[in-house]
Amino acid sequence: MNIVKKLIEDTYPKVVAWRRDFHMYPEISGAEERTAEKIAEILGQLPIEVQHNVGGHGVVGVLRGSKPGKTIALRADIDALPIQEQNDFDFASRYKGKMHACGHDGHTAILLGAAVILSSLKDEIAGNIKFIFQPAEEQAPIGGAKPMIEDGVLENPHVDAILGLHIWPALPKGKVGIKNNALMASSDPFIIEVFGKNGHASSPHEAIDALVASCQIVNMLQTIVSRSINPQEAAVVTIGKMQSGTKYNVVADYAKLEGTVRTLDPKTQLMVEKRVREIVNGVCQATGTIAEINYSHGYPALINDKNMANLIREVGRKILPQEAMIEIDKPAMGGEDFANYLQRIPGAFFWLGSGQEDSYPIHHPKFDFDENIMKTGIEMLIHSAFQYLEKGTDHE
Ligand code: NI
Repeated sequence: MNIVKKLIEDTYPKVVAWRRDFHMYPEISGAEERTAEKIAEILGQLPIEVQHNVGGHGVVGVLRGSKPGKTIALRADIDALPIQEQNDFDFASRYKGKMHACGHDGHTAILLGAAVILSSLKDEIAGNIKFIFQPAEEQAPIGGAKPMIEDGVLENPHVDAILGLHIWPALPKGKVGIKNNALMASSDPFIIEVFGKNGHASSPHEAIDALVASCQIVNMLQTIVSRSINPQEAAVVTIGKMQSGTKYNVVADYAKLEGTVRTLDPKTQLMVEKRVREIVNGVCQATGTIAEINYSHGYPALINDKNMANLIREVGRKILPQEAMIEIDKPAMGGEDFANYLQRIPGAFFWLGSGQEDSYPIHHPKFDFDENIMKTGIEMLIHSAFQYLEKGTDHE
């Protein structure tokens, strides 16, 4: 046990340096070239087989233990966001309009740290550990997990289980959060285009007003959650963008709405979609407009495997300070494409608390975290990997 702690202390300065380097040079979804290169370079110095360009800019490392056994994957997302950073520390983003505002720089550094340490413990590993550095997590609805899976990341060697984490400012610093079943929501983006007929503002009767129709649609969509969904079920319908009109004295012939739906249950997910379509078509019929609906199924809900969540709990209780292991009672309504792996193999996703009094939420231009929590992240991943390979999940 203590040897891992010591190895983490020894590796920590490097982990911090990597995190800061990734933070200084953030690359947004689909453009993670430098990031991927740096990851591959670090993995390349270890007794790890490195694969490049897996499902885009994905990098995969396979560490084969000295003894045979199962394969567990540890995954980090590596992409940044199109946000102008407002932090002024010396490792703030060097790229205008791009920022690691979701902690993926930390996730990447944590996983690299885990890779270095696990490599040095190779002789004690029975089985394989696959390190998945995944791009494009922020690029819903396609994301980066799906292309990596399609490119075979869960095979050769076949992955039996997977673990991932997210730095989480809504959870106090020093805590680790886990939950059975749904931890994060499905996220389905949609675009609704409404077509009417132009006319002079003074003769509305000769036109078909797409702007008024789209306002009705926005209002009516609010009734889905309040009137059509069982109050015991969670759902969000948000229209975040609305565009219409060209001039104050012209009746608008076109409107465009963009929104997202978040749910935790596949049945609710389908129900919301059905109601969105019915409402849009109904309002169009009533207003003489025509609509086109482009509704995509984005990331599925992130459903943790009970046994794998138990493994995280057990490891957390063993290695963390007392009461640091927290049971999350309510899932987050944000999406996370780690969900795609969990649709295929058992696994668990946990939150690494980073919340302090002055902390900002993820995706905020001032988001940051205390780098010390990376040690906890590394420790959790290492012990969980060992525990899984030694005992599987059958260890009540
Ligand atoms: Ni994120």
